[in-house]
Amino acid sequence: EKKERSGMRQKFWELGGSRMGDAMRVKEVTEKGEGEEDGEGEKEESGEKDQGEGEVDYKKSAGFAAHVKKDEKEAKSSEFARTKTIREQREYLPAFSVREDLLRTVRENNIVIVVGETGSGKTTQLTQYLMEEGYTEYGIVGCTQPRRVAAMSVAKRVSEEVAAMVKESGKRELNDEIDGLGGTVGYSIRFEDLTNEHTLIKYMTDGVLLRESLRDPDLNKYSAIIMDEAHERSLNTDVLFGVLRKVAARRSDLKLIVTSATLSADVFSDFFGGVPIFRIPGRTFPVETYFAKSVQEDYVMAAVKQTLQIHFNSPPGDILIFMTGQEDIEGTCTVLAEKMTNLGEDSKPLLVLPMYSQLPADLQAKIFDAAPEGVRKCIVSTNVAETSLTVDGIKYVIDSGYCKLKVYNPKIGMDALNVTPVSRANANQRSGRAGRTGPGFCFRLYTERQFREELMETAVPEIQRTNLSNVVLLLKSLGIKNLLDFDFMDPPPEDNIMTSLYQLWILGAIDNTGDLTALGRRMVEFPLDPPLSKMLLFAHEHGQCSSEVLIVVSMLSVPSVFFRPKGREEESDAVREKFFVPESDHLTLLNVYLRAKQYKFDAQWCTKHFIHSKGIRKAREVHAQLVDLMKQQKLDPVSCGGSWDVVRKSICSAYFYNSSKIKGIGEYINMLSGIPSALHPSSALFGLGYTPDYVCYHELISTTKEYMSCVTAVEGEWLAELGPMFFSIKESYESALKRRQRERSDAAAMEKEMEKKKMEEEKERERE
Ligand code: CDP
Ligand code: MG
Repeated sequence: EKKERSGMRQKFWELGGSRMGDAMRVKEVTEKGEGEEDGEGEKEESGEKDQGEGEVDYKKSAGFAAHVKKDEKEAKSSEFARTKTIREQREYLPAFSVREDLLRTVRENNIVIVVGETGSGKTTQLTQYLMEEGYTEYGIVGCTQPRRVAAMSVAKRVSEEVAAMVKESGKRELNDEIDGLGGTVGYSIRFEDLTNEHTLIKYMTDGVLLRESLRDPDLNKYSAIIMDEAHERSLNTDVLFGVLRKVAARRSDLKLIVTSATLSADVFSDFFGGVPIFRIPGRTFPVETYFAKSVQEDYVMAAVKQTLQIHFNSPPGDILIFMTGQEDIEGTCTVLAEKMTNLGEDSKPLLVLPMYSQLPADLQAKIFDAAPEGVRKCIVSTNVAETSLTVDGIKYVIDSGYCKLKVYNPKIGMDALNVTPVSRANANQRSGRAGRTGPGFCFRLYTERQFREELMETAVPEIQRTNLSNVVLLLKSLGIKNLLDFDFMDPPPEDNIMTSLYQLWILGAIDNTGDLTALGRRMVEFPLDPPLSKMLLFAHEHGQCSSEVLIVVSMLSVPSVFFRPKGREEESDAVREKFFVPESDHLTLLNVYLRAKQYKFDAQWCTKHFIHSKGIRKAREVHAQLVDLMKQQKLDPVSCGGSWDVVRKSICSAYFYNSSKIKGIGEYINMLSGIPSALHPSSALFGLGYTPDYVCYHELISTTKEYMSCVTAVEGEWLAELGPMFFSIKESYESALKRRQRERSDAAAMEKEMEKKKMEEEKERERE
């Protein structure tokens, strides 16, 4: 039976584990799926040519206006980075040529919009200019980023630049506490704060600044705030717009700079009442753009072919491939590596580097390193490389035409990351990346007709397409009573606000009049999604098991810690099964954590048990921070010891609206939507001899069908007790799970009895 189970799992991963093959179908993967960490990351391969595989057909675009030629001089930038000092690199950036003008504009105006091509130096230079100009003498300079990766990576670069300037000045010896990352220049992202008392420039996610405004509504510690990447229109940036407009009105000493990579900055200027727009002149080179001749079935394979085509037939210059997420990035890297290996040792070397948010930071940093002499670099990235990160030396861009967008799915009542076609604005940004340091080429893996007819002009702002519960909770605690009155640049659909209010209401965070409840006020203190903070607080107040739930929540806040290496699937599944707690994946996570803790999170022990040691240590850090937050609220974690039923009940208190009822063997239907939902093959409950009548799950993954992921068996009575707005007890009966549990324990007791009896009999016989 076990063998069959792992066979089925194997099959599932073969089918669903790879996105290749049905690339053109829009698929859903919840955020967690994206988050799965990868153990290897970097791949470096080389090989001899095979070009028999056929190429993607391109015709030259007729209608596309290539970027205007402004500067003939081609800078070989990887060489540039190798040979020029940091000062020279900084002074080469377009922002430097307008430094004085820019600083004057900032001096004369409290709010300024800064527009500049990507790579002009907005993110890395503006903060430093402000520091050099003395703005850090009475506060710190904050710079928000919509993406964690960008915040970390840019902070690292800027800390190196600042340190280099200190060194060059010769004024003092370098000191790691001040000049290392986390000193003068630091960053802060959720669950990770790398700043200290020396920090003057702080990069952070927009969510972090939003949270800070809860504690310090005037954001007094900042003398200047740069809202970077405003064109991205991320949810938190959009909310910050409204919040910061009020702060700026109250604080005449605050400098607010909003940056955008696109020219449509007028909306930002209008929003702040017609503030000046400062344009950094671009320095771009012409980019020749090609479209696919026919619709491509599989963008991963198409990208691979195009890459090899470029690599073997086109002049030197690095390649940047835009993919949607970790899964197809890894797919592309693997296939490319395989092809290169097959080509043999002595062909032209190609350095393939992945880039996505869950990639360990040291591997992310590699994309910025210049490739060795004579090696072509090929970066395979998510849309983070579209505007947030600039890599010099890219000459060829390959655009899959897709990206992952967080979209609120009312069917499942939560956000899902959908693979969606990019907008034309995104596509043009992408192609522009090829023309930063010299003339370039962009290959679009979609047809010109698709570009014209199927792509939207611009992307829909996140605020109009995602779940707002978090934001609504935050705004409520900022004292905004009527959300429809809040200063949104583009207000979210009223329906979305209502749904979010409803979700908060069913969790008990707001009352019938829409005001925060005591529970709601406590929930805001945690940087967690509302259901997770509810779970924690319920566990504390009603379950006496906050210690255990803290661990569950921490484990749910990091990417999956299990890994399943290729070729060792069965082996790793077998090891993982040893951790299974049969009635719950959440408890399985708890179990894994406790066991790893017994072994002091030892890396070797983790690897031996197919657990990402980095991942589980991350969970430990998250855990430590959540414990601190609990203690700050005078909630000392309490443990329920070994009786974990209350833990399951706490899970139920937060996820009762994600519940399913058994329909047949292994088949469930969602209790609210009636949609069939299957147990995910990675679940501890999958393939069990028995199946509980009711389950709650953390999230739904839609691939070939709807899979519940992270599932816990719950009692029918709990659903009625905790989610009375949805469920009532029709009949009073012992739930099947309880019955089976009793049956099991009865059987065990019987067996024990028999064992005992047998031993006694044996003893008796011996005596005789
Ligand atoms: O924000 P914007 O797109 O205007 O440009 P930026 O991110 O400030 O990039 C300015 C320069 O810094 C580019 O030439 C990047 O290649 C370089 N950079 C780098 O070398 N390493 C990083 N981690 C980030 C930026
Ligand atoms: Mg930038």
